Amino acid sequence: MKALILVGGFGTRLRPLTLTLPKPLVEFANKPMILHQIEALAAVGVTDIVLAVNYRPEIMENFLKETGEKYGVNIVFSVESEPLGTAGPLKLAEAVLAKDDSPFFVLNSDVTCEYPFQELLDFHKAHGDEGTIVVTKVEEPSKYGVIVHKPNHPSRIDRFVEKPVQFVGNRINAGLYILNTSVLDRIEKNRPTSIEQETFPAIVKDGQLHSFDLEGFWMDVGQPKDFLTGTCLYLSSLAKKQSKLLASNSEPFVHGGNVMVDPSAKIGKNCKIGPNVVIGKDVVIGDGVRLQRCTILPGSKVKDHAWVKSTIVGWNSTVGKWARLENVTVLGDDVTIGDEIYVNGGSVLPHKSIKANVDVPAIIM
Ligand code: GDD
Ligand code: MG
Repeated sequence: MKALILVGGFGTRLRPLTLTLPKPLVEFANKPMILHQIEALAAVGVTDIVLAVNYRPEIMENFLKETGEKYGVNIVFSVESEPLGTAGPLKLAEAVLAKDDSPFFVLNSDVTCEYPFQELLDFHKAHGDEGTIVVTKVEEPSKYGVIVHKPNHPSRIDRFVEKPVQFVGNRINAGLYILNTSVLDRIEKNRPTSIEQETFPAIVKDGQLHSFDLEGFWMDVGQPKDFLTGTCLYLSSLAKKQSKLLASNSEPFVHGGNVMVDPSAKIGKNCKIGPNVVIGKDVVIGDGVRLQRCTILPGSKVKDHAWVKSTIVGWNSTVGKWARLENVTVLGDDVTIGDEIYVNGGSVLPHKSIKANVDVPAIIM
């Protein structure tokens, strides 16, 4: 089986992290985002994965060299010379996607959920039409693509409206599809094309597009606030499964559960950590530190008595003693927050040193 992951885009909404690494390589729950997807695809027997990129492919290529071997999949990079949108990359990769008649998966690279690929494949084969998109319910549908069903039909889609200005429904495109190879005939070569604005409406018109309801959590983690929310949802789902990836609630530092700690990280005395915290590789946490709803990326240091909430601490950064970070603060790579400093939200670009309080959310360059 085959799959294409839409990796392109500059990931500007996840700056300053994406100034250092392309978005798919940013660790989500201690694993590069894209590995969550590659693993799930490999698990249902996908053997060929196209990564559609238009941004710094060389970093990804280096990183993913061994990944293909590890999971027994063929990973090929399909590089656009100009961004081809969300459908153009499918046509560009036609040689791989249409190498046989079997349907292929398409994934937006910035979504997290429990990937239902086997059920999706079974459902798609059962209805026999051209395409199936995974849908989920959200409270704010205007940020997404919204689907409306044919009256009296449980899955056939009647309308697909990308980023609707007026409310049309709350069931949205989760950014995961399975499509027949015939869909490729609907996409023009070498022209930026939107799957949401052009291809889906055309398939809908022919009554060939179905929806598949996602069970469980879902989040587009392409911006910091949603990255933190998505992390909470993911950790909760691990907790429900009593996953060994979470620290045991009997650890003295765990407070409220849902805490993930890389085995190489060091945690000081009398810390209160959780709920919803991810601590990455080689992180050092001092004594008496309070962490909640945050991700500490590899190589960072949080000094004694710091208080960190709703924050992403970028790689190799240092948070000073008694410092306080909250309100969706994102530190880039190699940032230093001085002792006793307060940061009330915003982004700090890589290699900065913060020596004065940041009382209102700001971008610090
Ligand atoms: N290769 C390539 N080339 N990939 C691209 C390009 C491009 O020109 N433009 C965007 N992408 C990738 C992004 O990296 C992302 O993985 C995916 O396509 C979707 O783009 P976003 O920019 O994240 O779109 P969105 O979040 O506003 O909306 C999309 O996702 C929603 C679900 O999260 C749409 O598909 C919506 O319908 C959907 O509800
Ligand atoms: Mg997105």
